[in-house]
Amino acid sequence: MAIRVARTHGPLGAEIEGVEVARPLEAETLAAIGKAWLEHLVLVFRGQSLDDAGLVAFSRRFGRLEKAPVAEKAVGVVHVPRLPEVTVVSNVVEGGLPLGSLGDGELSWHSDMTYLATPPPASILYGIEVPPDGADTWFNNMYLAYEKLPAALKERIKGLRSNHTSSYTSAGTLRQGYENVTDVTRAPGTMHPLVIEHPGTHRKALYLGRRQHGYIEGLSLAESEALLDELWAHATRDEFAFAHKWRQGDVVMWDNRCVMHRRDAFDPSVRRILHRTQLLSLEIH
Ligand code: OGA
Ligand code: MN
Repeated sequence: MAIRVARTHGPLGAEIEGVEVARPLEAETLAAIGKAWLEHLVLVFRGQSLDDAGLVAFSRRFGRLEKAPVAEKAVGVVHVPRLPEVTVVSNVVEGGLPLGSLGDGELSWHSDMTYLATPPPASILYGIEVPPDGADTWFNNMYLAYEKLPAALKERIKGLRSNHTSSYTSAGTLRQGYENVTDVTRAPGTMHPLVIEHPGTHRKALYLGRRQHGYIEGLSLAESEALLDELWAHATRDEFAFAHKWRQGDVVMWDNRCVMHRRDAFDPSVRRILHRTQLLSLEIH
């Protein structure tokens, strides 16, 4: 299979043409996808047709899978039956039961599950039912965000770590089993460096996780808030981002180490169903 890589007009992202992800992939094709992924950070495969087992099989070509995260209190089930690796992201409610998590509201900028000590290096999202327009998912380039930091700010954040809080989803809702955070200096989560080196490219990336209830270790609360605000205002500038406009059948995979994402709120009366896998380890790079 000869693959074609067509980059987006933004500062990251490329469409991969000539690959049917439901079919077995030759080693050569896989290597070409891996190379494009390192270079473009977000890959989009249009017009795919997958069932959940197929999504799992495709995802496993890149490494072992992590289980679906703990969802918001109101949502009982977030993975598909018998496949704990497949997270359901949906606003659809059937017979009083939500099909999945994250609703129809805005999702703020975040990387997936970075509240874990070893966060997923990548996530893969498959669009099963998507609205004709809206509900765009935005991605940003955190290598670029790091490179464009003023030199003094780069110096100031050297060696600092921040807490990535586990208590809330990117929709801002409390996860099942968690309590509201009243003191961010003691919130549950994991401390990660503000700057990481990507193991595949050896490039430095700003690593922020999510803004809500974040805290920079060793600083006063006021200093931490001010520095986080400054870093977030910079990292979330439009010039580092592009919006993915969904079509049914899209498979979108992103590098969770050097990319953050967010989603626009959308019309609650339309149906949106996406299935996601998240990698536990990435075995290609
Ligand atoms: C996710 C996520 C974005 C979306 O699945 O990790 O953030 O567009 N979803 O629903
Ligand atoms: Mn996410």
